[in-house]
Amino acid sequence: MLNEIALKYGTDKSTVKHGYTLFYDMHLKHLTKEHIKLCEIGVAYGSSLKMWREYFRNGEIFGVDNFGSFFDPKDKSEIVESLEKRDITVLDGCQTDESVYPDVDWDIFIDDGSHLQEHQQRTLSFMLPKMKPGSYYFIEDLHSRKNHKSIYPRTLKVCKRFMKTGVWISPVNNTKQIVKTIKSMEIYEDKLVLIKT
Ligand SMILES: C[S@@+](CC[C@H](N)C(=O)[O-])C[C@H]1O[C@@H](n2cnc3c(N)ncnc32)[C@H](O)[C@@H]1O
Repeated sequence: MLNEIALKYGTDKSTVKHGYTLFYDMHLKHLTKEHIKLCEIGVAYGSSLKMWREYFRNGEIFGVDNFGSFFDPKDKSEIVESLEKRDITVLDGCQTDESVYPDVDWDIFIDDGSHLQEHQQRTLSFMLPKMKPGSYYFIEDLHSRKNHKSIYPRTLKVCKRFMKTGVWISPVNNTKQIVKTIKSMEIYEDKLVLIKT
């Protein structure tokens, strides 16, 4: 079970903190033996990527992080090395830079990065249309109020409005395309899952 693996690696997705593992297990356990391609934004110390590596033994696992100045360069290289040993690919860059991501048909995409509303909405706007039909797109920490005085509304508000009205209102330039690519959406407190058409 995913939570046991999360506890082993100490990620805050476990029931000790956020309890996200129960939610992920519910949506993803049927894929554990498949050759899935997963990308998570937010490597930090690598705990959740190690968890995904063990959960999806046959999968390809990627992590994206811009490793801000609070990461000691020595720590950063140790983190990257220990993940690469486990066959996890680390991509170094900002989550909103489309060129950071290789051309992969993702089955599972997780945004646990900056938690800025603008970053969540911009990343989704270019990533979701490129994903595989039936793939899963998760966003964590929707309750975060980090906004950098942005013109972007709260992602939680954008998604709740979409569920009610079918309209996507966000300052990205492909809102109609986004609407077409969402087969379904579920919001659970501070996290959400979208299923791609
Ligand atoms: C909450 S931590 C990730 C925790 C990790 N997923 C886990 O569960 O163990 C968030 C990470 O996002 C990274 N981050 C912050 N802003 C980013 C950005 N603009 N692009 C990519 N990564 C970013 C931070 O460096 C940090 O490592």
